[in-house]
Amino acid sequence: MLISVLGTTDERERRVALTPDCVRTLVSDGHHVAVVSGAGNRSGFTDQAYAEAGADIVDADTARARSDVLLTIGPPDSGSTPFGPDQILIGLLDPRWRPEPIAELAAGGVTIVALELMPRITRAQSMDVLSSMATVVGTEAVLLAAIRLPKLFPMMMTAAGTIAPARVLVLGAGVAGLQAIATARRLGAVVEAYDVRPAAAEQIRSLGATAIELDVETADSEDEGGYAMAQGDVAAERERVALAGHVADADVVITTAAIPGAASPMLITASMVEAMAPGSVIVDLAAERGGNCELTEADGEVVHHGVLILGPTHLVSSSAQSASQMFSTNLLTLIRHLDEGGRPRLDMNDEITAAIIVASGGTLAAQTPPHES
Ligand code: NAI
Repeated sequence: MLISVLGTTDERERRVALTPDCVRTLVSDGHHVAVVSGAGNRSGFTDQAYAEAGADIVDADTARARSDVLLTIGPPDSGSTPFGPDQILIGLLDPRWRPEPIAELAAGGVTIVALELMPRITRAQSMDVLSSMATVVGTEAVLLAAIRLPKLFPMMMTAAGTIAPARVLVLGAGVAGLQAIATARRLGAVVEAYDVRPAAAEQIRSLGATAIELDVETADSEDEGGYAMAQGDVAAERERVALAGHVADADVVITTAAIPGAASPMLITASMVEAMAPGSVIVDLAAERGGNCELTEADGEVVHHGVLILGPTHLVSSSAQSASQMFSTNLLTLIRHLDEGGRPRLDMNDEITAAIIVASGGTLAAQTPPHES
């Protein structure tokens, strides 16, 4: 296969879809790899490193015109050379939240693979880009909070007195939340966490945090694929009431609660923020889809009653090199999964392949509709 790595003109995106190490592996597997010049610059991978790994360095139009498989992090730049019916485009293309660009791309007949739709089964774990990126973001969120909080995280007993440890509350204990818990614990904070999925409590405890147990209905909290489902208005209100005291007591709140393809549940109201101590910090990782805090502004900084509310949507790019390494390894595994004797095989009887293809031959696949928010 001729596999190309696209770049992006989006300055906030610092990741690249393949690292030179994975290029080398694909070349030794017998594939040809082309990398758009400069695609790896922002994550520290130079054209020279790609060339040494065996890639051709090309311009974007050449990559788009002649590749079998095109790899991108997010939606590709609207370029002059359209994708064609014999090509496969693979990336985080957000089909459930932003379906219109997918429909436009699909019209040209290109096969579109949306990495967000990777099923949550053991066999697919090594291709699960969302989990990889959540690992990075959960770590970065805590580091960001630690820098902005006007307190130290660890407890310190010094000649100048005792410094109490920071109290961190993590809401949503999926991949990002669990990583946030682990990072906050490593920094010495006292951590408690809550997730609407009852199964998360044991994982929270295993990381040395306290699992908050709320007296709210969680019977339908998880769908068959292991993803959280939206709660009704009444359950959401009960959750906010039950969480209010925990939010008020926290120095740092990291919110990660997300419902795939739907608006994020609102867990922290303005009045809950007002009950927090001035100087406290909220890092809302759900900002892109409305946020878990009523006051969050995507990519903005809001100070309300002395509480800092951050809604970063590109935190993953803060560790662009590690994120790219994980993304790339996931893609390498996926390419090997799709490869049959040097040609891509789109076996719709395969659970993984069938789940991730959102369009082919000009037709959009029937996707799981977004959950109601
Ligand atoms: P996510 O990013 O979609 O959501 C983050 C977390 O927010 C989830 O744990 C969810 O339960 C929680 N949440 C949603 N609404 C909430 C609310 N109202 N209040 C509190 N929490 C709320 O989920 P993520 O992190 O991608 O994965 C969730 C779980 O899926 C993982 O913990 C794991 O068990 C499973 N998983 C399985 C994989 C596999 O088997 N291949 C791969 C990745 C995850």
